[in-house]
Amino acid sequence: MPEFWEKLGYVSNPYSTEPLAANQLGADLFVGRARATASILATLGAASEGVQILSGAPGVGKTSFFNVTQYKVETNLASAGPKLLGCCEQLCQVSEQDDLRELSRGVLETLCTNIIAYCLREGHPLPEGIRNLSNWLKNKGTTSYTANVRVGIPGVISVGIGGGQKREYPPVADASFQTLQEVAGLLAQNVVEHLPFDGLLVGLDNMEEYRDLEKLKSLLMTLRDTLFSVPRIWWVLIGQERLYPLISRLDRRVADRIQGAGTEITHLSLRELEQAIERRVLVLSEGRRPQAPLPSSVHQLLYEKTGGQCRATLQYCSQICIAAYTGILEEVETKEIGQKQKTIGDELAKMFLSGQMATDVALSLLRDVVAGRIELLDLSAEETHVLQMLEPVQERTVEELTADVPPTALTTMEEMLRKLCQKQLLDSRLGGDKTYFVLSGEGALARSLDLI
Ligand SMILES: Nc1ncnc2c1ncn2[C@@H]1O[C@H](COP(=O)(O)OP(=O)(O)OP(=O)(O)O)[C@@H](O)[C@H]1O
Ligand SMILES: [Mg+2]
Repeated sequence: MPEFWEKLGYVSNPYSTEPLAANQLGADLFVGRARATASILATLGAASEGVQILSGAPGVGKTSFFNVTQYKVETNLASAGPKLLGCCEQLCQVSEQDDLRELSRGVLETLCTNIIAYCLREGHPLPEGIRNLSNWLKNKGTTSYTANVRVGIPGVISVGIGGGQKREYPPVADASFQTLQEVAGLLAQNVVEHLPFDGLLVGLDNMEEYRDLEKLKSLLMTLRDTLFSVPRIWWVLIGQERLYPLISRLDRRVADRIQGAGTEITHLSLRELEQAIERRVLVLSEGRRPQAPLPSSVHQLLYEKTGGQCRATLQYCSQICIAAYTGILEEVETKEIGQKQKTIGDELAKMFLSGQMATDVALSLLRDVVAGRIELLDLSAEETHVLQMLEPVQERTVEELTADVPPTALTTMEEMLRKLCQKQLLDSRLGGDKTYFVLSGEGALARSLDLI
């Protein structure tokens, strides 16, 4: 239990920026998203397998939404749709560096881990086929199966124990992509036959990692007729805002295979953010705390100044509290050893009167925190100038930002914008053949406090 939050009466940080987990706690802390939930469940209910897209701005809540949705779909908490075994233990992350085979192997391993975890959790015997496949994927020799080629879907194998064609797979290191695709089919088949599920639900998170659109297109074109067509597996591609229009422009053939028109996650409203914090306070203080560590006015100000960004708001709330604690500990350092614990307790009680910090104290700490972060980033005069050219929530392209300068300045500008993304003051998104840049929550907050 983290000591500081425990002293404030919480089992853990009520302003944590971790995505909500695919478990009951995640579901209890989750707010809003009725439309997005309906959209995803309706699409899942309209076919036995396929691909759909879930997208939204950085930090808006995509991973949390997917995690909680898959938990509901797995546990019968969803109002409709099939019962699918999700990746509750671990979500599949994509990376531009992975080749197709590596990506597929990683996905299959994650699937196995999740299936095994489900069986352990529920006390369900692990199906023999899954055990063998899992060993095979972990490189423990070869495995063989009796399989039937499913007529009409070329290249996709579905297992029928007791009949069909005998398959002998080489060690996983030598396995072809075709083999991995067959193994995906075998996993799904085993799940449907031996566990109480209609299929598998696989989320591929962080699709925005694919900065090279040609690479993304070629990946999706290959997956379209291979893994994405495996019976009884639903895939959800999770990525940057407006991912569906981007993919449809890339290649119509990929877009045609996608079910629905994408589910776009938008910012939580201020009311929903307040609700999310109230839930956390109630659950994480086990009912001991009637109010949040910071007043509503501070939540609201952060929400507005960060352009409605839930994660940036939570992150700064957390940092304000930690900055207050740091100040107290600094003071305590000057005290006699025997005095220290008592002084910490007294000072915390003064700082968080009836459990909540005063607004003016919080705002002054906020300013110090943001100023400290900006100072650490060591911004050059040019970087500061570019940041000053951007207004919160306004998206600009490199071309727009360099309208009056010679073309050679374009690369320099692009490099600088990328650096500012790395410094987390800007967010970027691909749109057609252009990249759009916008102040991140942190960048917008620093600008609004006149610290940039
Ligand atoms: N519906 C929600 N209810 C309660 N809290 C939420 C909700 N959505 C998001 N949050 C909180 O917001 C924060 C950011 O969420 P999350 O990490 O899921 O965003 P993301 O869109 O996946 O971010 P990234 O773009 O970095 O992948 C987390 O702390 C999460 O707990
Ligand atoms: Mg995420």
